[in-house]
Amino acid sequence: MWVQVQETVNYIKEKTGFTPEYGVILGSGLGSFTDDIAIDFMLPYSEIPNFPVSTVQGHKGALVFGTIGDKKVVAMQGRFHFYEGYDMKQVTFPVRVMKYLGVTKLIVSNASGGVNPKYEVGSIVLIKDHINMMPEHPLRGKNDERFGPRFVNMSEPYSLKMISKAKAIASEANIEVHDGIYMGLQGPTFETLAEYKMVKNIGADCVGMSTVPEVIVARHMELETFGLSVITDMGDEENIEEVNHEEVLKAAQKAEPSVRLLIRELIKQY
Ligand code: HPA
Repeated sequence: MWVQVQETVNYIKEKTGFTPEYGVILGSGLGSFTDDIAIDFMLPYSEIPNFPVSTVQGHKGALVFGTIGDKKVVAMQGRFHFYEGYDMKQVTFPVRVMKYLGVTKLIVSNASGGVNPKYEVGSIVLIKDHINMMPEHPLRGKNDERFGPRFVNMSEPYSLKMISKAKAIASEANIEVHDGIYMGLQGPTFETLAEYKMVKNIGADCVGMSTVPEVIVARHMELETFGLSVITDMGDEENIEEVNHEEVLKAAQKAEPSVRLLIRELIKQY
């Protein structure tokens, strides 16, 4: 994998000559964040050697290079999910590439189902921790020490300093944010009522089908990581909504201006 990553990095460097400091992974319905970037280059995934190709509706597949304020950014417009059929090494390949393009800080966003009664549809959750319930681990197999250690410390998967900065930005902009624990499940089914109950009982606040593998791989390589989730449906027994992909996208889009502001300002100010 080391060779593949370097090959991809060399291709992108040759094409763009760009050294980003921030990597951003845009989740469902949050793709318009790229409007906040003064774009220098766009590379469709289909043109990047060794990159998987995105298949989900609502996800565009391109790496976007540009600046926000005076910070250099690479954004993934569209991510790869385990449920699409990729293995975890493919799902997390772009994070490896970002690291060797120069990224030191990774910002990840997603849409999730809420089980914390304090949340409602449209709530923004700053992820403070996660529970990995995905069936495959991205670091399984022989470890390549050039990427990072065999046994990865996960005591602070989400940077407390970045969370604290984001909270300050939210408060100044009058945006309500929560913090919470995200559980990663494989999908692609949304949870049953019994599964939502399990998510809650195990100790998570929200649940989704992404983010956890990317964050694990980011921490393997010591990227400082920040994660943010938009609650697009509530999984409590009294008012379980009929959740479908369109509703998820609609709810995520409603929160989009606030999410965009938070990420934009975090990149500018942190
Ligand atoms: N479960 C998993 N993923 C999701 C959900 C959910 O309820 N909502 C949005 N993405």
